[in-house]
Amino acid sequence: MSVSPTASDQTYFRRALGRFPTGVAIVCAQLPGQAPVGLTISSFNSVSLTPPLVLWSLSNTSSLLDVFLQCERYVIQILRADQPELAGRFAYGDMAGRFADLPADRAPGGTFMPAIDSAAWFECRNRSRYPEGDHLILVGEVEHCGHNESLPLVYHAGGFDLTPAIPAATSER
Ligand SMILES: Cc1cc2nc3c(=O)[nH]c(=O)nc-3n(C[C@H](O)[C@H](O)[C@H](O)COP(=O)(O)O)c2cc1C
Repeated sequence: MSVSPTASDQTYFRRALGRFPTGVAIVCAQLPGQAPVGLTISSFNSVSLTPPLVLWSLSNTSSLLDVFLQCERYVIQILRADQPELAGRFAYGDMAGRFADLPADRAPGGTFMPAIDSAAWFECRNRSRYPEGDHLILVGEVEHCGHNESLPLVYHAGGFDLTPAIPAATSER
């Protein structure tokens, strides 16, 4: 199939991409003297262990493009399975409402992060950015991170869904 230029092909492409389950994260940043901003992402991935690098991508149409082009650091927080409300809020809510009832916290390097007890968090230096297609790819150098043993929120086929447990392998082959 071709994936462009018709809208129906793009819908098909998006549905095909949706068959790849991902985790869900929120990325937050704060420019000096300004209010914090953040958004929900599913484009997070690991890049390198040495140096420790991760990547994610930001839509060119995002209102947050300027902030993530300028900020020195940001924090990526991987949401827990019981945090789908936060995923929706940081995707669809107005910016002030996204942080409304969340206490402010700081990563060890001083970068703003909401106190949400996420499954994992990564404080990243905003190392490099690559315009590609209709998104900006951002590579972050992880300076500090933390995690706990909670189950992560899973995004699959356009919905939040825990992947059903895979039956334990038997000895029969
Ligand atoms: C599950 C999920 C994953 C998303 N992943 C991304 C992503 O990787 N990159 C992106 O730019 N937007 C992503 N979005 C959309 C943004 O969260 C949404 O457009 C947000 O409102 C952007 O902030 P803005 O409206 O202030 O630009 C995702 C939304 C959802 C619900």
